[in-house]
Amino acid sequence: MSEQTAYVTGADRGLGLALTEALLLRGFRVFAGEYGLDASGLDTLAETYGERLHRLPLDVACDRSVLRAADKLREHCQQLDLLINNAAILGDFTGGITDPLDFTLMQEVYNVNSLGPLRVAQSVFGHLTRGSLKKLVNISSEAGSMEQSRRTNRKLRYGYCMSKAALNVQTVILANHAAEHGIESYLFDPGWMRSFMHGTKNLNATQSTDETAEKILATVLDRPHPGYLYMTRDGHRYDW
Ligand SMILES: NC(=O)c1ccc[n+]([C@@H]2O[C@H](COP(=O)([O-])OP(=O)(O)OC[C@H]3O[C@@H](n4cnc5c(N)ncnc54)[C@H](OP(=O)(O)O)[C@@H]3O)[C@@H](O)[C@H]2O)c1
Repeated sequence: MSEQTAYVTGADRGLGLALTEALLLRGFRVFAGEYGLDASGLDTLAETYGERLHRLPLDVACDRSVLRAADKLREHCQQLDLLINNAAILGDFTGGITDPLDFTLMQEVYNVNSLGPLRVAQSVFGHLTRGSLKKLVNISSEAGSMEQSRRTNRKLRYGYCMSKAALNVQTVILANHAAEHGIESYLFDPGWMRSFMHGTKNLNATQSTDETAEKILATVLDRPHPGYLYMTRDGHRYDW
């Protein structure tokens, strides 16, 4: 069997870097979307894994960048087994309805978090249909859940929550189409992780990115698809 291939966006650091490393450890050839603020993690992986790691400059908010990355990926492989849309930004986390709200920043968050995964999925969809695994993974959040915002009486985080809710419905629509090609789709709330969404490493969070990456890959690669889309990193159903 030929080497399995995966494409991970936002692979510079945080969960994306951990997923990239975990996939390399499993023997995958990994196309790692590199945004560029801190490339040191990918530099270290490149020393260990050499040519199995392909670094693709990638801004998921930019049509041209996404198409260029897909062209580069196609130069190196005939088919793609697994796509993980991981890249996202937080934007302003603090404003409520009585505060000034930065609508320009919210549009940026929507562009990265909601449109970015659709751009990337479209750019490699043909390759994914030819893959042997046929797996499409979108990393969402508890922030995308209507029920969670209701249950927790949330009054802040408009931009990020709306962007993840949009990603969620996008994943439903895309999964319907992808299923016609035998592609299985997953939408994860990965949990609260010690990553860099706030700019510096969040040491208060409860979960490591490495453990989360392992659990997500175990759910996607080692077990049958659970039959629903929105789930925790362990594969338990998450409320819409
Ligand atoms: N952290 C949590 O507790 C948590 C909870 C629920 C869901 N999530 C989700 O988990 C996923 C991974 O987040 P994380 O926690 O690992 O955050 P992170 O540490 O900030 O990593 C996000 C990655 O995306 C990259 N990125 C940012 N803007 C991009 C763009 N326009 N194009 C391409 N890449 C871009 C970042 O690059 P730079 O480092 O260069 O900016 C970084 O490599 C996200 O989808 C996030 O919404 C996280």
